[in-house]
Amino acid sequence: MHKRIGILTSGGDCPGLNAVIRAVVRRAALSNTSVLGIKNGWRGLIEGDVEPLNRSSVTGILPRGGTILGTSRTSPTKDAETTDAILHNWRHFELTGLIAVGGEGTLKGAFEMWQKHNLPLLGVPKTIDNDLSGTDRTFGFDTAVSVVVDAIDRLHSTAESHHRVMVVEVMGRHTGWIAAYGGIAGGADVVLVPEHPFHISRVCAQLSKRQEQGRLFSIIVVAEDAHPATDEDFLSDEARSTIYQHDRLGGIGTLLAREIEMRLNVETRVTKLGYVQRGGSPTAYDRILATRFGIKAFEMVEAGEWGRMVSLQGTSITSVSLEEAIREVKYLDEIIFRLVDIFAG
Ligand code: F6P
Repeated sequence: MHKRIGILTSGGDCPGLNAVIRAVVRRAALSNTSVLGIKNGWRGLIEGDVEPLNRSSVTGILPRGGTILGTSRTSPTKDAETTDAILHNWRHFELTGLIAVGGEGTLKGAFEMWQKHNLPLLGVPKTIDNDLSGTDRTFGFDTAVSVVVDAIDRLHSTAESHHRVMVVEVMGRHTGWIAAYGGIAGGADVVLVPEHPFHISRVCAQLSKRQEQGRLFSIIVVAEDAHPATDEDFLSDEARSTIYQHDRLGGIGTLLAREIEMRLNVETRVTKLGYVQRGGSPTAYDRILATRFGIKAFEMVEAGEWGRMVSLQGTSITSVSLEEAIREVKYLDEIIFRLVDIFAG
């Protein structure tokens, strides 16, 4: 029987998505399997918006950021109507399997569609945040970290010339992976992560100590979901509800800078890196990881290993159950956090 598999990219865009699509299409061609690209995440399967992918559709996409298929944050299990539309189109397009490339939300959706509706599905983990359990790395993370490091290197120029404190706010959702890796590689003086609520008095003491030692500038990296410790909270209720919105984090950098300037009377500026971290060409590391993930995903399709997620364990590409992958958030490794602390101040 001729096989036709679908592939979709869902959730936030991420450098390396095109490398996965390319790898799946190129590998599938060797096994005489056709690939149907589902447009804009699960929404494409709901609306029947698809595009056959062949070798020429994936030519030249390896270095490109974003996703040629488009993406959305649509859930396949939002309501019965949505799920029915997916089941209908699945039959209509005669899919024999589906590769869902995405983060936590996408993989949860894939797990439910596999478990409750018996659809042959498997997942490929992507996110710049590196917060998925079941894999040592997600592609996109390395690229995001390099953007942060490049920014810190550049910010050093102004920080040193103007003797300023520079606050760099980075993404990462509820984890501090990007902040910690970016901070370590960029040589930041203070790194604040969600896993460890920070004490503003301690941050200020570290900055003052640097000044006393003649280091007249400082670079602080703050993760978007880093919180002040409750006993020293300097945020108003209003600020708190604006910064820590579940679906749209951001703003702690500005308030942190204001507080430092007020307490230490030192010029402090903020740079919020935002979506720059997600855009542009993937690093060589991410291109290779995404390519290996894509090839493995296709091999799993051939072996009928459904309900699983491709995973990197050490240097090997393997797989874990989707259930295990979505069970919990992967928080920042304590060993890495201790490393951050050694270089603080
Ligand atoms: O998960 C990737 C990520 O960029 C997070 O770091 C960030 O909190 C979130 O997505 C932003 O999402 P959106 O694209 O919906 O604004």
